[in-house]
Amino acid sequence: MNLGFLGTGHIASSVIEGIFKSKLKIKRIFISPRNKTIAKKLNKRFKKISISKNNQQLIDNSNWVFLSITPKVGHEILKNLNFKKSKKIISFISTINLKDLKKYTKIKNVTRVIPLPFIGMKKGPIIITSSDRSLNFFFSHLGKVFQVKNEKLSNAFWSTSSFMAPYYNLLLSTRNWLVSKGIKGKEAEKYTKELFLALTEDSINKKNLSLKKLVADSQTPGGTNAFVLKRLKKNKFYQTQQKALNEIFKKF
Ligand SMILES: NC(=O)c1ccc[n+]([C@@H]2O[C@H](COP(=O)([O-])OP(=O)(O)OC[C@H]3O[C@@H](n4cnc5c(N)ncnc54)[C@H](OP(=O)(O)O)[C@@H]3O)[C@@H](O)[C@H]2O)c1
Repeated sequence: MNLGFLGTGHIASSVIEGIFKSKLKIKRIFISPRNKTIAKKLNKRFKKISISKNNQQLIDNSNWVFLSITPKVGHEILKNLNFKKSKKIISFISTINLKDLKKYTKIKNVTRVIPLPFIGMKKGPIIITSSDRSLNFFFSHLGKVFQVKNEKLSNAFWSTSSFMAPYYNLLLSTRNWLVSKGIKGKEAEKYTKELFLALTEDSINKKNLSLKKLVADSQTPGGTNAFVLKRLKKNKFYQTQQKALNEIFKKF
């Protein structure tokens, strides 16, 4: 099977990296000449990659076409491209809905998928808004697939993906606080990453413990965890998080 990536940016290169680390059997991957630098790098790294002359050639050569362009570019270029009826389209575009994707491409077989950059390590959640078995099979090689019934649900998942920078900022703030107490920057950074990695791994390993139970089990009455949690709640830390999520959700 031939795959095509319309737009060779951040997410396309992560997905491609994941594909080549996986056991998926791919004949060729056609990529856009844009971004030129990324396209050239991928072409140099992986034998099965070909840089197409233009977007139409990429589409014509591919059985599955992955839309990895920004919404603005999508609105501009999709309606001017020809997609044969046999094509399967997988869109990573955050804010172009299925109705518009079908209208622009005149293709029925369109699915919205949300990969995250960790897909390059074959890790992390992947949201698929359809029950397409071949897509499910494909993405199950690249991370943990979550199938959702409709776009509204997928938009809720989309909203939570805006927690990457705030999450890293929580780690940065922890690291900075350690540094303010006299710990060397490198050591503080390493420690913080290990701490948060262990917490996440622990929560995954303790499959039968709900998050609610983990919160309860991680604190003793009057202890330090209980103190910090209470302080954050009092200062509306989590309420602010919920509010920000609601605001993002409304944008979809
Ligand atoms: N990044 C993520 O974590 C993530 C996760 C899930 C979904 N998405 C979605 O995936 C899409 C791409 O995101 P991204 O982060 O990968 O953005 P990005 O790094 O900016 O990639 C977009 C790519 O599109 C190329 N492009 C621009 N105009 C083009 C055209 N006319 N024809 C072909 N390619 C063109 C750009 O090339 P130039 O650099 O030459 O302009 C760039 O390589 C977005 O819709 C985003 O919502 C992103």
